[in-house]
Amino acid sequence: MPKVELHLHLEGAAPPAFIRGLAKERGIDISGIFDAAGNYRYDGFGEFLKVYEAATEPLRSPQDYYRLTRAVLAESAAHGVIYSETFLSPDFCGGADLAAWKEYLHAMQEAAAEAEAADGIILRGIVTCIRHFGPDRARAVARCAAETAGDWITGFGIAGDELAGKPADFAWSFDMAREAGLRLTAHAGEWQGPDGIRDALRDLRVERIGHGVRAIEDLALVDELAENGVVLEVCPGSNVALGVCRDWRAHPIGRLFDRGVKVTVSTDDPPFFHTTMSHEFDRLAETFDWDAGVFATLNRTAAEAAFCDEETRARVL
Ligand code: ADE
Ligand code: ZN
Repeated sequence: MPKVELHLHLEGAAPPAFIRGLAKERGIDISGIFDAAGNYRYDGFGEFLKVYEAATEPLRSPQDYYRLTRAVLAESAAHGVIYSETFLSPDFCGGADLAAWKEYLHAMQEAAAEAEAADGIILRGIVTCIRHFGPDRARAVARCAAETAGDWITGFGIAGDELAGKPADFAWSFDMAREAGLRLTAHAGEWQGPDGIRDALRDLRVERIGHGVRAIEDLALVDELAENGVVLEVCPGSNVALGVCRDWRAHPIGRLFDRGVKVTVSTDDPPFFHTTMSHEFDRLAETFDWDAGVFATLNRTAAEAAFCDEETRARVL
């Protein structure tokens, strides 16, 4: 089944073997982030963020990001993804310096164009700031986003440690991105409860929420999300792997869907969570007994909520 994915972190999708190979080429010792089988090793969300950042260390040039983008898109396409919206981080691409960011972006776009020609997969970028890097750094990231906004960089978002600071601290950056014509999303309701989602909607005026699963703790909020058509970028395998949810059965995606919330399905950081888009679909089918009709609805919701132009959307729908 063709799949539309809205929530994928480019560095978080880096195959561990690719990062290990690059580290070896560069003489960088990050062996501590891998387990004996060669997979990323971490215990809990705090360590996950540290390992994630360590894994970006060997990525030091636009050419590295060209290779990363090709590798990630080949893997996504192999699992039936026809459209991928990916979080891109100027923080890791030249330290949020605008001139450097433009070079990295050029390399990623070149790789995306080649992947589209080779595998038919369409990529669009969402520039993301990182919450625990703080509001000042986020401003520099927002400038990078605003300066490169267009029909390829189509969105702006925030990821990282949801327990660091509050959404209002980042309002300036989101205002700047909105004024540049970018569409907005924020990670919320993954580690914070319903108030984190309410704060992001009110203070950042986002139209999509990354995760948002803890909305389930407040049914009034769930109904509000449904009524207002707020789209949730739900990443069930990520939530189970990081311990947001006890297991697949306990995951709220089924209850959110049944109550009318616009849910979509993504992988977040697939190799970190031993998942792929096919795996997510398979696990959801077996856990909730969902048939092809439900998955068609999820895909249509994702295509309609994608931050692309109408011509591109028509190719995906
Ligand atoms: N960055 C990459 N994956 C993330 C997640 N699941 N939550 C917050 N920030 C992230
Ligand atoms: Zn994420």
